Amino acid sequence: MCGIVGYVGKKNAKNAVEVVLKGLKKLEYRGYDSAGIAVVCNNLLHIRRSVGKLCNLTDKIAQDPISSNIAIGHTRWATHGKPSENNAHPHTDASNSIVIVHNGIIENYADLKSQLKENLKDFKSQTDTEVIVHLIKKYYKGDLLDAVKKTLSKVKGSYALGVICKDDPYTIICARQEAPLIIGVGVKENFIASDIPALLTYTRDMIFLENGDIAKITKDKIVIIDKEGNEQNREIKTINWDPVLAEKAGYKHFMLKEIFEQPRTIEETLRGRIYPNEGKIHVEEVKLNKEDVRNISNIYVIACGSSYHAGFVSKFLFENFAKIPTEVDIASEFRYRNPILSEKTLVIAISQSGETADTLAALRLAKSKGCQTLAICNVVGSSISRETNHVVYTHCGIEVGVASTKAFTGQLTALYILALDFASKKESLSKEDIKKYLQELWEIPVKIGDFLENAQELNKIAKLFDQKKDFLYLGRHVNYPVALEGALKLKEISYIHAEGYAAGEMKHGPIALIDESIPIVSIATNSKVYEKMISNMEEAKARGATIIVIASSNNREVLTKSEHVIYVPETDEFVSPLISVVPLQLLAYYISVNLGCDVDQPRNLAKSVTVE
Ligand code: F6R
Repeated sequence: MCGIVGYVGKKNAKNAVEVVLKGLKKLEYRGYDSAGIAVVCNNLLHIRRSVGKLCNLTDKIAQDPISSNIAIGHTRWATHGKPSENNAHPHTDASNSIVIVHNGIIENYADLKSQLKENLKDFKSQTDTEVIVHLIKKYYKGDLLDAVKKTLSKVKGSYALGVICKDDPYTIICARQEAPLIIGVGVKENFIASDIPALLTYTRDMIFLENGDIAKITKDKIVIIDKEGNEQNREIKTINWDPVLAEKAGYKHFMLKEIFEQPRTIEETLRGRIYPNEGKIHVEEVKLNKEDVRNISNIYVIACGSSYHAGFVSKFLFENFAKIPTEVDIASEFRYRNPILSEKTLVIAISQSGETADTLAALRLAKSKGCQTLAICNVVGSSISRETNHVVYTHCGIEVGVASTKAFTGQLTALYILALDFASKKESLSKEDIKKYLQELWEIPVKIGDFLENAQELNKIAKLFDQKKDFLYLGRHVNYPVALEGALKLKEISYIHAEGYAAGEMKHGPIALIDESIPIVSIATNSKVYEKMISNMEEAKARGATIIVIASSNNREVLTKSEHVIYVPETDEFVSPLISVVPLQLLAYYISVNLGCDVDQPRNLAKSVTVE
């Protein structure tokens, strides 16, 4: 789950160190426990590594500068070996002639290491990665590409790899297997990176490597060899993302910016797919016709974390709108529990990054059982999006904050569209109802925009509660998953313990937790379960809890049932999660800021979880 960047260009044209450091800065969301860079200068390798965030490495280089026309760099999220300078990448062989950066896991590293027993003293780290560089050195007879090929034929696991050698200061060798790697195509310069934002400042022309590809890159030439050993001309894709979108645009944190982007990202995800006036839905990417949809016997939704919560909401949508039995599963559980699947099962994988290892593995399991597969992804060209039969992209742009916000509402939006599309194809909802829901969806961006005008109000509440040690979040029906998501947001960015519960479950145990010290965040927007929510709030209040309620703007009753009311614009109950989650995102955000936590890069987390 690390980030890698590499650059090779004309001598003195551009300082490779600067390019790589700037690229790594954009990839810090992939990991930030240590960072490093290697260059070749005067036929010698120079390496700088540092524990902690990238700024520590930048400071180190400022004190002890290096420059070159070629560099590879890495920002790490530890899997094997604790965060330390020795474990930080790049890793080099004993003679300091070859150096590598790696993202992924080498599953057979212990085996490979034992085969290099005469070199054991040369190992300087506890990483799984280091064995690769020693093997490359073993096979190196003057042709770096050949040595990398031979090495990778022995390796089991996942990798995105960048390799340079002091004897050839004009070449980067890179390779990809189950970990993302792109090549940025420049003029008299070329780049490699784990993700698009790292390169947008320099080029928009990118090649997405396929599994098994190995490439030899010089400033003028890119040669790609596929897993069969054949040279391939991979398509160059032009990326139209605005690099400014990847910046904070005046907000204090990416997370806040991304919360405020939601009216636009929801609108973008809806645009061109729904036509509320005509009651029509057109999802071009989904090639399932009426008969195909009618043939779906059941749906499994698989995902992790916030994406799982979005998937949980969709259970209500597929069952109520399209009348298709739907199960939702955490991908890491699904993949090991032998689920009952058939060719009539549609498996929907939801993933912002499209690289989450468990979701990818669960998807592959479904494919191996002959299921139809569909992905909801944000990152174009990501592994999950490439491996499914159908993919619906959420048009959210880059999400940099580690805590998912606009990606979550983007996923929900895509799921609403899909469920209504299925309902329309199955005629399981009347035309009037479809029109009504499309209209409700269409109005959501404006409603969230209106709500966000008073976002600061949430900070007043946050200030009253930021010293609390535990929170409970309660919801029912479609807002039960939203309660789970609200609790996840709070714990991941403020490190406060929080639990989400189905409000009806309180009496079956959790109510024992309630006393004056626990605030309860209750989602009680207008719906058929509203009265039930009010009863659950009364029960909690009777036991001394302080209640913060999310309620529809026309509701006055809640003022007598709670200490703090957060009003959100009124909407249909099925569509309400798109709005009710927004105050929960803001509450978590302000509490985190007030506590001085690292909002965008919370401890122990990474944006893209590409390991099990
Ligand atoms: C929480 C969060 C994570 C992700 C999860 C899945 O705010 O961001 O829980 O939702 O790691 O990631 P993706 O959607 O990339 O598969």
